[in-house]
Amino acid sequence: MTIEATPLPTTRPTPFDPPEDYRTLREDQPVSRLAMPDGTAGWLVTSYELVRAVMSGPQFSSRPEKMSNPLRVVTPEERAEFTVRPGMFISMDPPDHGRYRKLLTGQFTVRRMRALEPRIHQMVVEHLDAMEAAGDSADLVEAFALPIPSLVICELLGVPYEERDEFQTRSSKMLDLSLPFEQVRAAAEGIDEYLKGLVARKRENPGDDMLSGLFESDPTLTDDEIAAMGFLLLIAGHETTANMLGLGTFLLLQNPDQLDKLRANPDLTNGAVEELLRYLSVVQFGTVRVVLEDVEIGGQQFRAGETVVCSLAAANRDPARFDSPEILDITRTHSTHIAFGHGIHQCLGQQLSRVEMQIAFRGLFDRFPNLRLAVDPSEVKLRTTSVVYGAATLPVAW
Ligand code: HEM
Repeated sequence: MTIEATPLPTTRPTPFDPPEDYRTLREDQPVSRLAMPDGTAGWLVTSYELVRAVMSGPQFSSRPEKMSNPLRVVTPEERAEFTVRPGMFISMDPPDHGRYRKLLTGQFTVRRMRALEPRIHQMVVEHLDAMEAAGDSADLVEAFALPIPSLVICELLGVPYEERDEFQTRSSKMLDLSLPFEQVRAAAEGIDEYLKGLVARKRENPGDDMLSGLFESDPTLTDDEIAAMGFLLLIAGHETTANMLGLGTFLLLQNPDQLDKLRANPDLTNGAVEELLRYLSVVQFGTVRVVLEDVEIGGQQFRAGETVVCSLAAANRDPARFDSPEILDITRTHSTHIAFGHGIHQCLGQQLSRVEMQIAFRGLFDRFPNLRLAVDPSEVKLRTTSVVYGAATLPVAW
């Protein structure tokens, strides 16, 4: 069957639901032809089963050099700059990917994660205290959702306390899509330089942090490789968790029945976090692959070199996998969502981000029993075109 190519759907019917076209595509043709802005034809995969098949298939690569961008044309100059930096393993395939991933997984030890928990509690309390002391309203994204995940990463990497403000300023600049590209790039380069310098200092004076742990576990790793792994933790772990906190709060405020249930029984928090992950699937454009060798998926013949976009949001609303997927239900059990991806690149920070979200949501709703939106919901600015979807700001009052 030949199917017509359509551009990637991006228009959302509500702030919390994926584009409507995903639903119709998943029903009619879960593997559909995607018209790429550069004129090539790619694929869009929308069912739970087939998204998992692509994400775990050895015929699919995460290397960006040959991928088409589903949202805009990549210029030849930009493409010429595409080199996967040693250590940036989210953009690598086996065997290189596995080597780096294993080294970093070895650093997410139970002991280190346990030690982080009380620190996360403390950060959450300090930020809630500061919000309360400053008045009775705030932008939740700026005051709470963005700083907590960034500080957790500072803690992991062993960024000294006195350097954290500067680190955070740079990190939020790097993630601010409203800034001109040159400023974002400068902020990213600044963080990179900073991380390289930090690794060099750690070599002189090792600590109990991940960067030190990395060169101690593999003495052949260069400073640049370790800095790249630190940088990856920041880009993968900051915005994702921050957008879950911001958008997740917005969603709960718009669903008072669910929020009331959670407030009445904070033991529901862990399940609520899973449901928010499933329902919001904030990584909206991140899971793109390129076909390495011809393969058939869902009855369609994929050819080497074609770009494949896997929609986690569509997969996480698939009625073949979830009962009444369009309903937000924080008491849903046995959720097998794939908001953290699937296959060899499945999120390495998922346990950490779960703990962060659990502590942060508990703290927030406990501290402000009257938390409410301070603007009309239609005025909440959304990050519709960024890789990670979310609320750019969330004005709240209490
Ligand atoms: C990979 C989602 C938080 C570190 C991924 C992927 C997804 C994801 C979908 C797979 C990307 C792909 O297949 O191409 C999320 C979400 C988060 C979150 C929704 C928060 C709610 C974090 C945190 C960290 C982290 C806190 C670390 C501190 C990573 C790393 C990878 C990754 C290192 C690459 C793994 C690999 O390539 O093997 N994440 N993530 N993430 N994530 Fe997360």
